[in-house]
Amino acid sequence: MEVFDRLTQLIAEIESAPAPTPEAVEAFRIRYLGSKNVLKPLMGEIRTIPHERKREFGQLVNRAKEVAQQRYDDLLTATKNGEQSQEASDLDLTAPAEPLPLGSRHPIALTMRRIVSIFERIGFTVAEGPEIEDDWHNFSAMNTPEDHPARDMQDTFYVSAGMPAWPDNTAMLLRTHTSSVQARTMETQKPPIRIIAPGRVYRNETISARSHAQFHQVEGLYIAERVSFADMKATLLHFARAMYGLETKIRLRPSYFPFTEPSAEMDIWWGLQTEHDHRITKGTGWLEIMGCGMVDPQVLTNCGIDPERYSGYAFGMGIERQAMLLYNIQDIRLMFENDVRFLRQFASVL
Ligand code: PHE
Repeated sequence: MEVFDRLTQLIAEIESAPAPTPEAVEAFRIRYLGSKNVLKPLMGEIRTIPHERKREFGQLVNRAKEVAQQRYDDLLTATKNGEQSQEASDLDLTAPAEPLPLGSRHPIALTMRRIVSIFERIGFTVAEGPEIEDDWHNFSAMNTPEDHPARDMQDTFYVSAGMPAWPDNTAMLLRTHTSSVQARTMETQKPPIRIIAPGRVYRNETISARSHAQFHQVEGLYIAERVSFADMKATLLHFARAMYGLETKIRLRPSYFPFTEPSAEMDIWWGLQTEHDHRITKGTGWLEIMGCGMVDPQVLTNCGIDPERYSGYAFGMGIERQAMLLYNIQDIRLMFENDVRFLRQFASVL
């Protein structure tokens, strides 16, 4: 019968009725569940149904009502979660991913890079040497023989000798300075030599806010014909200006190192504006940043370079100290504690 077909069709229509917006859901409710819903005229037709099919007809009408109610409930929840489903459909699979949390460079690495790149730009190349060094390269080749009182300047960690890989009776130690790289380079390269050697060094120091038993240095060495003290001074002035600003003033004070003659300490003018300036410069306004001097002819001889033909200069500076100046760090121990609250602060430094 035709009315059965219309009911069945209506049920199918209800089951798939779309209603993406709250307004459409309301229209659905009015159409199928409202007081003048489309089922009502059909229900009126029960009069025309033969007696034996009235029951079947009634069941189909009830089913239509149930389906309408169920569909209405579903559509309602769907639009209530509308924001979510909207978002899901906006999902852009080509959008860039959330950035992964990246670490930051360590202030020592930042400072080291900065120092090294200043020298690289004027023709120095990076050289390296081992941190566990033999006595010869750290001391003897550097004109500091075993009985030399200057060994006391650097309180040394000795590592027991005679371990399998080392020739017997070779005193091994944790290098006390990067000057050992000077000796290694001169032994293997011919002048002109122009190297910069960054690295970690060790001394038996009491650990405090100002000093540590491990720290870093950058060593420089230039060997060629007719290299003079004036060349050294010009190079170091260039460095000081590149590092601390074009107005930076330097001064060289006479000093002593076994491997250079003459030797000097280089200070930069820091100023005396604040109490902090007074404290870190001990009231002088000058800050010592490196040791330097003309390579002692004995060192050249020790390393197989003819001192009659070649001369050169060398310098060495501590990295932590300069990092502390650049970034206003008050305690050197922070450098080695790996506390992310400290390290994170350098994330934006290039
Ligand atoms: N090696 C010296 C030190 O550790 C620094 C230095 C290097 C001095 C090169 C002169 C020349 O203190």
